[in-house]
Amino acid sequence: VSTAAILTAAGSGSRLGHALPKALVPVLAVPVVVHAARRLLAARPAGLPLAALVVTAPAEHVAAFAELLGPDVVVVPGGSTRQESVAAALAALPPDGIDVVLVHDAARAFAPAELAERVVAAVEAGHDAVVPGLPVADTIKRVGPGGDDGRPVNATVDRAELRAVQTPQGFTRELLERAHAAGADAPATDDAGLVERLGLPVWVVPGDERAAKITTPRDLAIAQLLATEEGS
Ligand code: CTP
Ligand code: MG
Repeated sequence: VSTAAILTAAGSGSRLGHALPKALVPVLAVPVVVHAARRLLAARPAGLPLAALVVTAPAEHVAAFAELLGPDVVVVPGGSTRQESVAAALAALPPDGIDVVLVHDAARAFAPAELAERVVAAVEAGHDAVVPGLPVADTIKRVGPGGDDGRPVNATVDRAELRAVQTPQGFTRELLERAHAAGADAPATDDAGLVERLGLPVWVVPGDERAAKITTPRDLAIAQLLATEEGS
């Protein structure tokens, strides 16, 4: 099984509020996108190194990303939404010889290589769409209409049935391309959501706390802690 990866890094990071786009923000002097790419490139999905890595960058930073990531990584300008960025990266994959595609957010920069390997192993085992997910620690309630001063609770959702979903998500190339083509005009919050919309099954494997998304300054502080622990 030959695996390629798409790393989305074209966002601005508005909630992080840094002067640089989020993917270029340094953690222990290494940009977020480099942390993410290093871990993906260390993975041996199905026992092999990645056959290709395509990274999406903000249009004005494509050259800077290419310089940071080196000649083996393809950098393309992202779209105006994450979904459009993934579609642009899909179009830049090598035309032949790729069976499985991982889609990963650079913002989940410390997702370990073994998580990518676990996801691809599940695709190899016959699940055409695979996401990593973690049990939810909080009690989750469904609420009714309301405002900033509060809302009525309608129900408590059974937590045992919930998973907080992460990336990398893995797909057969054929299914991911089909899902993106079908969903181009209807945004979903993740790639697996586009597969669900086709009425096709998605499989969840255990996620990893280290794959938490860097969204806010607090998340960046946690990432710094992780990088310090790992020594990189
Ligand atoms: N992303 C992308 N293209 C976009 C928007 C987002 O490639 N047009 C990427 C981001 O770079 C990030 C991932 O999708 O790695 C998840 O998005 P998010 O965490 O929301 O990042 P940003 O959109 O950059 O942050 P914010 O929403 O706070 O502006
Ligand atoms: Mg965003």
